[in-house]
Formats: sequence, C-alpha cells, structure tokens
Amino acid sequence: MKITSFEHYKEVYKYSVEQPEAFWAGIADTFKWRKKWDKVLEWNFKEPRIKWFEGAKLNITENCLDRHLDTIGDKAAIIWEPNDPKEDHRILTYRQLHDKVCQFAHVLKNNGAKKGDRICIYMPMVPELAIALLACARIGAIHSVVFGGFSAQSIADRIQDADCNIVITADGSFRGNKEISLKSIIDDALVTCPSVQRVIVLTRTRTPVAMIKGRDVWWEDEIKKVETQGTKECPAEEMDAEDMLFILYTSGSTGKPKGVVHTCGGYMVYTGFTFDTTFQYQPDEIYFCTADIGWITGHSYIVYGPLSQGATSLMFEGIPTYPSPGRLWDIVDKFKVNIIYTAPTAIRSLMSFGDDPLKAKDLSSVTKLGSVGEPINEEAWHWFDEKIGHGRCPLVDTWWQTENGGHMISAIAGVTPLKPGYAGLPLPGVQPVLVDETGKVIEGNSVSGNLCIKFPWPGMLRTTYGDHERCRQTYFAAYPDMYFTGDGCLRDEEGYYRITGRVDDVLNVSGHRIGTAEVENAINMHSTVVESAVVGYPHDIKGQGVYAFVVAPNKKDDEELTRKDIMMTVSRIIGAIAKPDKIQFVSGLPKTRSGKIMRRILRKIAEGDTSNLGDVSTLLDPAVVDEIKAGAL
Ligand code: WTA
Repeated sequence: MKITSFEHYKEVYKYSVEQPEAFWAGIADTFKWRKKWDKVLEWNFKEPRIKWFEGAKLNITENCLDRHLDTIGDKAAIIWEPNDPKEDHRILTYRQLHDKVCQFAHVLKNNGAKKGDRICIYMPMVPELAIALLACARIGAIHSVVFGGFSAQSIADRIQDADCNIVITADGSFRGNKEISLKSIIDDALVTCPSVQRVIVLTRTRTPVAMIKGRDVWWEDEIKKVETQGTKECPAEEMDAEDMLFILYTSGSTGKPKGVVHTCGGYMVYTGFTFDTTFQYQPDEIYFCTADIGWITGHSYIVYGPLSQGATSLMFEGIPTYPSPGRLWDIVDKFKVNIIYTAPTAIRSLMSFGDDPLKAKDLSSVTKLGSVGEPINEEAWHWFDEKIGHGRCPLVDTWWQTENGGHMISAIAGVTPLKPGYAGLPLPGVQPVLVDETGKVIEGNSVSGNLCIKFPWPGMLRTTYGDHERCRQTYFAAYPDMYFTGDGCLRDEEGYYRITGRVDDVLNVSGHRIGTAEVENAINMHSTVVESAVVGYPHDIKGQGVYAFVVAPNKKDDEELTRKDIMMTVSRIIGAIAKPDKIQFVSGLPKTRSGKIMRRILRKIAEGDTSNLGDVSTLLDPAVVDEIKAGAL
C-alpha cells in the first residue's frame, strides 16, 4: 500500500483499527482469488480460532507468478549471487521462474507428492530452494524448511513431528570457504524417519553422496523425465484460504521447537501488504534481503512477499565476510541494489572491519535500508545509516516474529519518522498493547511492559502443528484475549515502540532464536554432565551469547577437552548455531528450596554484574553463589 505522508498513515491506521474487516478486505482485493471470501474474519483468542477470508479459494503461486506473466513476465524475479564471486550469477525472470516451478511441481507429483503432504526442505541458498517452496505451494503440499545449520537430530525431530513423506535437499552447500555435506546429514536424519519415501537431491557441490536405491533420486534426472513427458504448465491446486501453506519450526522457552503453521490466504495478503507498505517498493527497484530462506524472514521477504508484489528479489548464497568483508557491498555495487534488508548482527560484524571494505564501492543506488531479527543498538543503526545509506536513506527497523508472518511494528520507508533503536509505530491493522505482570493493560505513554497484540491480523499463526493446546498455552494463555509475543517493550512519550528483548527463556543469538531449555537438554546429553543452566549475556557482535553453567563432577582432568566435547554434543543434538560461547564448570546451581534454578542470579553473573545479586538467603545453598561468582568467565 502506498502511503504518502505521516498524516496519511495516521488516517489509514485509524481506519484499519476502526473497521478492520473492511480494511483487510480492501487489501485482499488487490490479490488474485479463484473465489472471493464469504466472511473476512472470524476469531476468538480463547481456543484460539482464527479464520481469515473464509470460503475464499486461491493458490499463492498464481499470485507470485501467473498473474505477473502478461505484465512483467520478462522482469527479473530472482537474481542469484553465488557464494564464490568467480562463479556466474543467475537471473530468473517471472516467466522462467514460473516454468521452473511448474516443472518441479511435476517432479513432486511424479514422486508421489499430493495436496496436504508435508515435505521437508533442507537446501543451500540457491534459486532451486525458492523453486522447491513454490512448487510445494503449487500442488498444495505443505513445506517445512529446515535451516542448513541444524543437525541431523534436529532435522529428524522436525520430520517426525510433521510426518513428512518427501525430503528435498542437495549434495552439499557452499558457505564461505566451507563445504557442508547436506545429503549425508539427511542420511543420518533418515535413519529414524520411516515416513520418508523419497529424497530428491539437487546437484550443487558434487561432493560424493550415497544414493539409496528406491529412495533417493537426483533433481536433474527427474527434471529430464518431465521434459521427456513434455508436460509444461502445471495448473495450480485450488486451496482454501485457511488451508496450510507451510510449517516452520521455532524455539520457545520450553520443550522442543514448535511447528508454527501459516495458511494460504492470510499469509499471502499479509506478507504482500507488509512488503509493499514497509519498503514502499517501486516497480524498478532491486531488493536484497540477506536472510536465509531457512528462517521466516527468508520465507516472507525473499520469496512470498516480494514475488506477490512483482518485485526483483536478490538472493545470496554466501556469507557477508567471504571472500572479504566487502562482499555485501560488492553485490550492491554489481547489481545496483536499491533496498538492503539485513540483520543487526551482520551490521555489527561488518562494522568491526572499519571503513576499508567500503572503499571504491559504489553504493549510490541504495535508497532504503531495513533491519530485522533483534534489537538494533544505536551504534550499528548510525553506522548503517551513515556508511551504507549516506544519511539519505530511510532505515526501517522491522519488529516481528515467526508467529506473526510479517512486519508488525516498523517505520514505513520515507513516511513515518525514524528513531534509532525504535521499531516505531504499528503498521496498519496491528493493535499492540503493553501489559503488566498481572495482565493489566498499561495505558498512556512513557511506559513499559510485556508486548501483546489484542486483535488478529491475517498473517498470524493459526496453530502449532499437531498440538493446538501448545499454541494456546504458549501464546494465548498468559493474558486473556491477547496474543503474547514474549517480548518486553517500552512506549515512549510520543507513542513509539522500542523492543527491549525477550522476557522469557528464549535467546536471540546472531538473530537466531534459541531456547535455553533446548540447549540445556543438549548439554545434559553429554555423559559427564549432571545438570546445566543456560542464560544469555551481551555479546558485541552476536547481540547475545550463550553462557552455560555446567555441573560435571566426573569430567576429565583436561577441562578444555570436556568443554569441546560438550560443544560437539550440542552441535550434534541441535546444530552449530546453538554452541555455547562460554562454559563454566560449577559444583552446583543456585536453587530455591523447592528446587527451582534461580536464573536471575546466573544471568547477572553471566553479564558480569555481580554487585547486586539481590536476596540469596532463600537459596538451598547460598555458598554456591560465591563459588560461581569467583569462577565467572
Ligand atoms: C526479536 C524474526 C527487536 C524479538 C523476524 C522477537 C526483534 C524475535 C526485532 C523473533 C526488531 C525480531 N527489534 N527485536 N526489529 N525483530 N526481534 O521468530 O525478540 O526468528 O520476539 O523472527 O526476534 O524472532 P524470529
């Protein structure tokens, strides 16, 4: 939605909360439906039961592909830049992308995929990853993408939870100077996944892989078969607005990751609307989101949002520091990128290399900047604004979550005022509230509390896969009739929102969501560990680091070796992204008499702030605190 001024925003916002159904129907009207809805919205946050555009029929890929063919068929839909700058980049126009999606949709069908099947995708950042998502959506199969940094065990957990019958992967992936054997990780995962009948393997690194007869097939061979069959077009499956589009697993404060479920109609409307609104996208702009499609940002803002709006989405296989810390700026220069959407952790990491990597890079094409995934500190905000935006580009700090589907609180580029460190004002249709510990809504400005949303928006999660009660418990039980985000937040004197971070036991490490309970479970799997407690601490680059307090009485004399063994255990169980930055061996954990770990104390110690640990007299063994303090890393 094009918003022309701050005044205009205020009008639109007012209308969107006073008449939400009319507002969203108006937005939904800009999409292509096979049949329009009977009812815009039906909801209650008690069960919860949320239905948007009930009765409507559509296929999201017709909105992302087919409807653009007559108008912008030859426009670049995806520009792909490989990990190695010496390899050729690729450009897929909307027409080419459409054809490839249809082709691969046939491959899926030939391999037994049907509407409603769950398909696990574990792939490098290559165009075929986007094609795989869209091909699933084309035939009504539900994709469950697993980020390439997760271990075999994590993949197996996700495949089993969703009962997937097909896996799409690649032989390997290139990340900087590393090569990762994706297929062999999948092979390890599948030992415990009898539901998987078929593995489709894309060739990327041509590292040797085991291809199991009757189960594994090459992507390229299957495409050839479709070409021989001569089938081109693949008509899109007609989906109900509330049919599942995908599952994406995300960490919470307890237990294993949950499968957040998004549905076809609402998610399409919400991601398209927010992409267009937040970035005020113009038809000739090149848009570059540096996220990985393994996370929600990639789903919503590399694939579905930009494509439904006919944008050119640049996809990058590698990492910002390879082969040099100027790589992102080389890409911007090479493709004359207009909009850069990245994470504070990337900005902080690139900042640390100073100005040298920026020399001789032409960044004059850049018009808008965006940040996502974690609070952005002011130093990083200003660096991004000055060095990359040259002080002339709006920098939107977009706050949202996997569960939200798309941007919730964010400045609108060039329209709403910017405040470093602040996500700003809610987007149209979003109704945030702050509540205190007792659940009382905190009115007025210059206040802080727990951030909730009191009215549904089309992109919100509908359930957690296979366990609706868990969805209710996690998001809708803390405060009656509200969605609880898990974030703390302040609203300043002008009503601008600043996200202060999670108030639960979820960490945000380099913009990746990690549950402390998950990491503890993984550490506790190590043979010498009796118990452990994991907390976050401020980390210059990662935002938060992982600090583990570990009780391991029978550990080897060589503590450093045991540390490495524990790290390896966490890598095996979750993935390298969850490895603790610090492991402190302790003789016991500070516990209350009822056996509850006092995390507050551990957090303070991890932060290096031991001056005021508060009352420790209620602890079972107060002496342990002194020991932990003395041994802090
Ligand atoms: C945090 C990522 C501050 C927040 C899109 C949220 C942010 C969690 C911001 C969701 C931001 C995300 N400012 N914090 N702009 N964006 N967060 O599900 O704590 O991976 O709850 O979604 O990241 O992480 P998720």
